Amino acid sequence: MTEPGAVVVPPLRSPAPAPTPARLPRLDHVAYGGDYNPEQWPKDVWDLDHEAFDAARITTVTLGVFAWSLTQPAEDVYDFTVLDEIVQRAADAGRWICLATGTGALSPWIARAYPEVTRVDFQGRKHRYGQRHNACWSSPAFRRLAAGIAGKVAERYGDHPNVVAWHVGNEYGGDGGACYCDLCAAEFRAWLRERYGTLEELNEAWCTTFWSHRFTDWDEIEPPSALTEHWKDRRYTAFQGITLDYRRFSTDNAIRQFAEEKAAIRAHSDLPVTTNLMGFFEPLDYHRWAPHLDFASWDNYPPRSDEPWRTALTHDLVRGLKDGAPFWLMEQTPTVTASRDVNPVRRPGVMRLWSWQAVAHGADSVLFFQMRASRGACEMTHGAVLDHSGRLDTRAFREVAGLGAELEGLGDLVLGGRTPARCALLVDWDSWWAVEMADGPNRLIGYVPTALSWGRAFWDAGAQLDVVPVTADLSGYDVVAAPLLHMVKGDLPARLRGVAERGGTVLTGYLSGRVDEDDRRFLADVPGPLAGLAGVRVAETDAAEPAVGNPVAFDGGPVVDGRMVFEVLVPEGAEVMARYRADFYAEAPAVTRHRVRAADGGEGHVWYVGTQLDQPGVTHVVRRALARHGLLGPYAEIEGLELATRVTPSGAVVDFLLHHGPAEVTVPLHAAGEDVLTGRRYAVGDRVTLRPTDVVVLRRDEPTEVAVPG
Ligand code: GLA
Ligand code: ZN
Repeated sequence: MTEPGAVVVPPLRSPAPAPTPARLPRLDHVAYGGDYNPEQWPKDVWDLDHEAFDAARITTVTLGVFAWSLTQPAEDVYDFTVLDEIVQRAADAGRWICLATGTGALSPWIARAYPEVTRVDFQGRKHRYGQRHNACWSSPAFRRLAAGIAGKVAERYGDHPNVVAWHVGNEYGGDGGACYCDLCAAEFRAWLRERYGTLEELNEAWCTTFWSHRFTDWDEIEPPSALTEHWKDRRYTAFQGITLDYRRFSTDNAIRQFAEEKAAIRAHSDLPVTTNLMGFFEPLDYHRWAPHLDFASWDNYPPRSDEPWRTALTHDLVRGLKDGAPFWLMEQTPTVTASRDVNPVRRPGVMRLWSWQAVAHGADSVLFFQMRASRGACEMTHGAVLDHSGRLDTRAFREVAGLGAELEGLGDLVLGGRTPARCALLVDWDSWWAVEMADGPNRLIGYVPTALSWGRAFWDAGAQLDVVPVTADLSGYDVVAAPLLHMVKGDLPARLRGVAERGGTVLTGYLSGRVDEDDRRFLADVPGPLAGLAGVRVAETDAAEPAVGNPVAFDGGPVVDGRMVFEVLVPEGAEVMARYRADFYAEAPAVTRHRVRAADGGEGHVWYVGTQLDQPGVTHVVRRALARHGLLGPYAEIEGLELATRVTPSGAVVDFLLHHGPAEVTVPLHAAGEDVLTGRRYAVGDRVTLRPTDVVVLRRDEPTEVAVPG
């Protein structure tokens, strides 16, 4: 038995790289446009393209993302004839250019000359030439050639007045995120030497005495794949420590290759550099990546159309990469995707709604993939601003042009604006990986679905939320949610305690506080280093199939549903908030709350939720926390009506009302101001009606009442 607070979290093996401040492209409008690949169709169409872009108020094009086989047709031949012309046409039309290095897809000659550049996949299959996003990040040839073309592109266009940003590669890890070749094995071993110093330390960290794995030579270490430690798939490993380290290594390996292109650019240009990320993308830890980006950007292709919170929270995650600074929405489809088995079109108004949602959550750009549809190959049916006919009377084009006019009217109002969040949701790739690769108690628990369910409760209540890494400064937040905080690293327990001791509220729960940075259990009661703070211990942990629920009854509150995992809680200082109703642990505590003495004599609260509550259950807990801090939004009771706020560098407060709900609503407005889309003025309490997909962009009259933390 451990004394509360007695668990020591070991010092970090590799402290997170220091954050670097964001540097965004200098613009005087929200950047509007997207990927434009005219090298893929005849030149006689290019004039029509630009005429259409003028009509839609397109300000920005991303060029050259897949142009490498044109710009370097052979190892010692660079040919910028086509790219020169494309850049010049865009510049003549007055457009800003986000210029790509073009390294997201290999050219055939590279793979032929240097077979090492193609990957070995998780199954151990050595790939031959094909597709894209397919290069091995350890390959010296790929690294040299990629940095080479990046330098050439930057040298040629670095001083071009219309180029505003650099776009390195494309969707890193798009084909799975890791390579398992011999070059990668060697790089992995070098990475491990750096991390552990000695094999003894590594053996300790990986618990290798288990199943007779003690390594006596670095060369005995294999990348963890289907041929070695794994069965079934990437999540089923005999040694979590090895697999975790391989994911960390793969992320660092990708970053090194990115950084080499960035350095090659820097030799010629100081403009900001980014790469388009993919939101909650499991294979690569974007928090490790963030310090290397000048600004963050991502591609928004929501898997479903009826989960607006997912997109909102993903914007929040990407904004959190650069400490709340604005980011770029680098891609979204104007109409339809092609890559899914079934690809429904965006309903009228939805593209506009989602674009404003991006701006509302901190995007300083609205960019599409793509400006004109591909002529051939696998993306020819992917939606575009212009379809193959080039018609301007399509619904897609009309909607794009309509939004272009609105964004033009917005001018520079929100550029640089930040989100005044008093709430934070912690997301950690290490915990994500660790909890999903754990054998037991329940393989069916998903990290992102859980984070989304908790985040949704904030979104739904209209509370402004930051999604931040576990290393973030928490001192500006009143409510901090840390679901599935499986791995506890560094000084996080102390920073969470700090939130409670300032009178704030911490929310955590099942499967948290289980393992250290090496994925070794704490030799202590569960939840390990969080037990003292939460005032609770877990006596045992039950699991069940998704169909099996256990009613969870809140004292004086609702009866909700618990599922998947059921921790039987023993309060050690905490009060019981809810109890299980069924099974042998009926009446045992399921949810607790620990009142912690705050520095000012008041109290902070630490909730521990021992089971996967249904959405009403999560909402109940989150809303109680929000209510305590006065953070319930004005439209918390209106289904589907989102409120997101940005505070501009000049102190103007801009509220975005975004109606995702299925039915028309009429609400009394929470603040006085002007709808910048219509010019209409509102007083506080004026009734405003929003139909589904409607948007109000309210510039508040009184700019001073909202403070941005940090
Ligand atoms: C991704 C890529 C683009 C394109 C789109 C199509 O986001 O970055 O090159 O393939 O998907 O959905
Ligand atoms: Zn490799």
